[in-house]
Amino acid sequence: MRSMLQCMDCGRQYPTNRVLYTCETCGGLLDVVHNLAALRRVVSRELYDARLGALRGPYRSGVWRYKELVAPDLPEDLIVTRPEGNTNLYQSQRLAVYAGLDKLYLKHEGENPTGSFKDRGMTGGVTQARALGKRRVACASTGNTSASLAAYAAWSGLQGVVLFQNKQVALGKLSQAVAYGAVCIRVAADFDRNLELVREIADELDIYVLNSVNPFRLEGQKTIMIETMQQLGWEAPDWIVLPGGNLGNCSAFGKGLKELYDLGLIDRIPRIAVIQAEGANPLYKAYLTEFEHYEPVHADTVATAIKIGNPVNYRKAVRTLEETSGVVEQVTDQEIMDAKAQIDAAGIGCEPASGCSLAGARKLAAAGIIRADETVVAILTGHLLKDPDATISYHRGELAGITPAFPNHIHEAEPTVEALAAILGPN
Ligand code: F0G
Repeated sequence: MRSMLQCMDCGRQYPTNRVLYTCETCGGLLDVVHNLAALRRVVSRELYDARLGALRGPYRSGVWRYKELVAPDLPEDLIVTRPEGNTNLYQSQRLAVYAGLDKLYLKHEGENPTGSFKDRGMTGGVTQARALGKRRVACASTGNTSASLAAYAAWSGLQGVVLFQNKQVALGKLSQAVAYGAVCIRVAADFDRNLELVREIADELDIYVLNSVNPFRLEGQKTIMIETMQQLGWEAPDWIVLPGGNLGNCSAFGKGLKELYDLGLIDRIPRIAVIQAEGANPLYKAYLTEFEHYEPVHADTVATAIKIGNPVNYRKAVRTLEETSGVVEQVTDQEIMDAKAQIDAAGIGCEPASGCSLAGARKLAAAGIIRADETVVAILTGHLLKDPDATISYHRGELAGITPAFPNHIHEAEPTVEALAAILGPN
């Protein structure tokens, strides 16, 4: 059954107890590859359906329910879980209309224990840290990874270390990392430089890196796709639409969907649409050249979670797009915040980066790339409360360069019945 680490470029293999993030021969990114022939005899839709509703043990988690596909060889007592996953898949007619689609689902990964999809990756990564006997785990982060790492490190008794970019970390995320007790360091550099730094210090300071360059994180994140397919009765939708920053999710989704297909758990592979903010769009630019040219950009966007100019998983993301007949689109900050306001006003709510999914689906539908009668799942990656400043500033019309299309003004009133009646009017 043994799973291996395997270079995506030259195919060199390593045992999973090696501490490696890239290939020693060619520098390529590593995958955790499983023995699918052996797994085919073990896994089935029925196996995973029977585990739904488990009250005890790792199968309560929406990651470890699929343990055979995540870490088949791992002893269960090493698993560090909160437990994560089990997030809702909402069907919203109102948001379907906004997007110009007949049917739209929203998979809300902001409903994870620390409010973002990162928990699915972190349970995989921190569990691997324990399997390797590591005592110290670290990441660079635009905010959510640090919140998740800080929580999972505290929960499992490891030391957590987080490097923040020097500005624009959303308040909710910063407060989580501080509260969970990680060593928090603000570094006078952007996310991309911070990610280089954390990899540079890893060996010397015996730090286990838990950014999405770590392939064990992506094994956890691919369960977003497995759980979605299970919630849809194992019937694949036509499209999965998601925001793209460091491109970990895009990479994980492609790997997960291909495995599900190869194992016969789904009958076809959905197309993936990655949506980038116009100010942080290196994948989109490369897509326009059919991936002939790739160039990092200097990133700037209101969606600070995806303010990333040089995504570490670029090569894996291209592989996903090729294998799923995927597309890449970009949206403006205005489109992101208006789409977020629609998701919020539907009673669901999300942080700005997640607005990309709806804004992107809408743009692709308007262009006829997604047909109105196709089934779409949009991924919401983070919780509304992660970035209260962005929300309030939008509704006050105080976001630079953005005129809110859907503002909800806060009224001021004297403490009298008349004043309140004047605002509310007759029912
Ligand atoms: N949405 C949210 C809310 C995020 O926090 C991130 C990434 C993304 C989307 C992009 O996902 O990197 O897999 O393409 N946040 C990272 C962080 C970079 O440090 O929290 P991706």
